[in-house]
Amino acid sequence: MFRSLISGTGSYIPTHIQSNLDFLQQAFYANGQLLSSSPKEIIDKFRQITGIEERRYVSGGLTAADIGSIAARHALEDSGVDPEDIDQLIVGHNFGIVLPGTIQSIAVPSLASLIKHQLGIRNPACIAYDLVFGCPGWLQGIIQADAFFKAGIAQKALVIGTETLSRVVDPYDRDSMIFSDGAGAMLLEYRDASVNGRGILSASMQTHALEEVNYIGMEPSGHPNSDPQVRYMKMKGRKVYEFALSHVPAAMKECLDKSGVPVGELKKIFLHQANEKMDDAIVKRFYELYDLQAPENVMPMSIQWLGNSSVATIPTLFDLVRKNQLPPHNIQPGDVVMFASVGAGMNINAVCYRC
Ligand SMILES: CC(C)(COP(=O)(O)OP(=O)(O)OC[C@H]1O[C@@H](n2cnc3c(N)ncnc32)[C@H](O)[C@@H]1OP(=O)(O)O)[C@@H](O)C(=O)NCCC(=O)NCCS
Repeated sequence: MFRSLISGTGSYIPTHIQSNLDFLQQAFYANGQLLSSSPKEIIDKFRQITGIEERRYVSGGLTAADIGSIAARHALEDSGVDPEDIDQLIVGHNFGIVLPGTIQSIAVPSLASLIKHQLGIRNPACIAYDLVFGCPGWLQGIIQADAFFKAGIAQKALVIGTETLSRVVDPYDRDSMIFSDGAGAMLLEYRDASVNGRGILSASMQTHALEEVNYIGMEPSGHPNSDPQVRYMKMKGRKVYEFALSHVPAAMKECLDKSGVPVGELKKIFLHQANEKMDDAIVKRFYELYDLQAPENVMPMSIQWLGNSSVATIPTLFDLVRKNQLPPHNIQPGDVVMFASVGAGMNINAVCYRC
């Protein structure tokens, strides 16, 4: 029995720390009106509802391709796989390259091609392409690699999630403080798993694109004097929250039930780091579907110090735990873990994996 196995992980955590206090001089607007609360009051409330104390922004001229390449190199070193042997190089992102001081997405050539170039991979049979699927884009790349393996098209895939959201947010929007930059990568290989039953066990995914399509998108700044032609990433936070609570726990349950693993055996949930309040509520509701309470320490979190770096949150979080850099969390051979994500589209996905 062959399964998709994780043979390496890597991440890039930007060095610039942007703390909540760095927003103390920021004026916050909504719909052209200055918010009546002071920046301090807004920041305090923000921390209370999101759990975020600080976040990371890329420095200098680093781009999403640059940081994706760094994460990829770490994953390759970790796996010992020769980069020339990779069949699929898949990059989940939403905005391509956004150069400092601009708010223009550059997606031609694809980030995957640029990263393949930076890694110096010569093999033309290493197919490099991007995947735009909102925050769940990286996990969708994993699901896609698994499907390519099962179809006999590929045997080794490098799946990267990379984003520089600090360059697409509206500084006058208080929700912008949620978002951050980062990159994570994973090397997957299709290998014989008959002895220990390791590998990807199951997956589930959904797209809701009726009125939900407007929950996260691009809109002009809330500042009254801003150029209406320039658009920034905006979300209807309450709508996103309610959507996630209504659909993500059920999608996670569908994935776990498909795997055949009893819920009591699930060791860790690597959930998209959206915000603390939303993630806590999703996991609580997931266990309620089994008439259980969420076990302590089931969900590692990095949101407090890394913010929400979209596609990069799960691979970065998993890399930290796998390398024992986020105590007390750790994973042992045989542990069953779940990855789950939600974001623009609106898209949802989940994957169960035996380590
Ligand atoms: C953004 C979010 C944290 C706001 O929380 P919320 O409870 O829905 O916020 P509400 O609109 O009900 O407002 C609750 C309070 O928080 C304040 N508030 C809302 N967003 C805020 C923000 N970003 N910063 C500071 N305060 C905020 C409101 O003014 C209100 O204050 P009040 O009680 O003094 O009147 C929440 O909607 C959410 O988690 N959304 C999901 C967003 C997300 O993670 N997206 C990532 C893509 S997956």
